Amino acid sequence: HHGQAAPAAATTAGGAGAVAVTDLTGPRDGVPDVSVTLTARQERFTLASGEEVDGFTVNGASPGPTIEAVQGDLVEVTLVNESVRDGAALHWHGIAVPNAEDGVAGVTQDAVPVHASHTYRFVARDAGTYWYHSHQVSHEQVVGGLFGAVVVHPDGAARAAGNPAPADLVLPVHTYDGIRTLDGRSGPTHVPVPAGTQLRLRVLNTDSANLRAWLTGADFRVLAVDGREINAPPPVHGEAVHVPGGGRVDLGVDVPAAGLVLHVGGRPTLSVGPGEQPATEPGAVPHREVDLLTYGEPAPLPFDVTAPARHFEYAVGRRVGFVDGRPGLWWTINGRLYPDVPMFMVEEGDVVVMTLRNSSGTVHPMHLHGHHVVVLSRNGERATGSPWWADTLDVASGDSYEVAFVADNPGIWLDHCHNLQHAADGMVAHLAYA
Ligand code: C2O
Ligand code: CU
Repeated sequence: HHGQAAPAAATTAGGAGAVAVTDLTGPRDGVPDVSVTLTARQERFTLASGEEVDGFTVNGASPGPTIEAVQGDLVEVTLVNESVRDGAALHWHGIAVPNAEDGVAGVTQDAVPVHASHTYRFVARDAGTYWYHSHQVSHEQVVGGLFGAVVVHPDGAARAAGNPAPADLVLPVHTYDGIRTLDGRSGPTHVPVPAGTQLRLRVLNTDSANLRAWLTGADFRVLAVDGREINAPPPVHGEAVHVPGGGRVDLGVDVPAAGLVLHVGGRPTLSVGPGEQPATEPGAVPHREVDLLTYGEPAPLPFDVTAPARHFEYAVGRRVGFVDGRPGLWWTINGRLYPDVPMFMVEEGDVVVMTLRNSSGTVHPMHLHGHHVVVLSRNGERATGSPWWADTLDVASGDSYEVAFVADNPGIWLDHCHNLQHAADGMVAHLAYA
């Protein structure tokens, strides 16, 4: 097949591939391995570094608590909305949860009103760095602080077979009302870590704009992108790693005796090393970015992309029009304005190739819910490095990416821009299973 599937392409339900309701929800029974209550509030609050901002908190702070699980754990999270006036919902960004647990207000659930609660349950199948965030009026609530990190550690067997578990630092980057922060702090921070420690720096970009992450004081490796391990990552020296808005990278480093500094584009920085004294050597700002198309060693893909069942185009442009009755310059998807964008229709088991094109004049971090895509090519250049899996892929204006995924998670899923203002302006499409 080639070209855009329309809703009319849907096959009739009830065939051998019909989806059962139990495929769409997390396990209702069973004692959870991880159980967390997250209380959301709309309020004026104080960042870890002392500034006061108006926004949203989870359990009284932003970022909210990091949820940690081990692969295979049954995770149960109860969202309590104490005072978020527009209601709230929690989306598990990058985690392949069953559709009903996806937390998209208006699609998979209603927004949870003030004084109500909603419980999510899912099995944390894949290890990696993820995040949770509200998916109701996201351009206000996520921007205002209603989010936190999720870390799924490899299971015990995998851990025992490999090296001892490395030390982790979970480092969300977020801008609150013009205040740029790293783990909730706007100023330089020092974390004392003994020399020789194998450290994993989990950098989460929770902003809409992309950033560049790099280290000075030590070479590092890009261990993972969007929660998926890079195969045989080589050392990086003097280059930065590109992190799309919504994306994550895990950087691996052996902490040197003189310490090291993590940079996330601009301020703030984080130093790591023995003792209390922050390392101060600023080093040079890298001119180059690691090209994930060629980084690491190739490995076989878990599905055959040579004869896909579907091939979609997702072309982003821009034109004058009306959205919700408001005139403006709006994003288009395949030439159409939201909500006049046909769903991408698939059947369970399909191998899907999608070509993402951008001629809109601005970069867009494209995020598909419920699935990871593997990058096959960029501007016709084939990927030759480690399989590069992403749930949030920056597509610069003028670029085209060919990506592939297997339709293995039935439901209705958003495929939208993670520049949350762009999404609010209609840069949203849906992937739906027939
Ligand atoms: Cu992280 Cu639809 O979002
Ligand atoms: Cu966008």
